[in-house]
Amino acid sequence: MRISVLYGTETGNAEMLAEDIQSALAEEHDVTCANLADTDPAELEGETFHVIVCSTYDDGNLPASAQPFADRLKKGAHDLAGIRFAIFGLGDSEYDETFTHGSLKLSEMLIAHGATQVGTRSVHDAAGNDLPEDLAVPWITDILTDLSVQPEEV
Ligand SMILES: Cc1cc2nc3c(=O)[nH]c(=O)nc-3n(C[C@H](O)[C@H](O)[C@H](O)COP(=O)(O)O)c2cc1C
Repeated sequence: MRISVLYGTETGNAEMLAEDIQSALAEEHDVTCANLADTDPAELEGETFHVIVCSTYDDGNLPASAQPFADRLKKGAHDLAGIRFAIFGLGDSEYDETFTHGSLKLSEMLIAHGATQVGTRSVHDAAGNDLPEDLAVPWITDILTDLSVQPEEV
């Protein structure tokens, strides 16, 4: 399967996690990894499965590198019908009212433009003891297994 791992980050955690996901999936899939800052919503492709990793900053907002993507999405009349994505959020539960809201906002934006979310959003809590990759790699592996058993209609 062609997989595009896209990350939105402020200080690099989501980028490191995106690279870990890319490495974990590369043996079985054709995987690329890119910053959302360098991603044009108009260039997302229906044949590619998108795995998005996004942190949260300042009152539940998108991190800096996801903002240009969100701005382009808001400005253009993008129809993302046929685009499939799974999304993983990074956050810190010390920010209890806005915990992982960056990834939540991004998923809502993509869905509002017609994209289809596959699987449920999963998250990492920087206040906890888990390593992000120990949660995210099994999460995406399960989603891809379900997809291969029961392919989504595109
Ligand atoms: C100034 C600041 C604001 C933050 N705001 C939030 C927040 O509102 N909600 C949340 O869940 N996490 C928040 N975080 C936690 C980050 O999302 C978390 O540390 C994440 O792992 C950072 O990933 P990144 O390096 O990819 O940006 C904040 C962190 C900092 C330093």
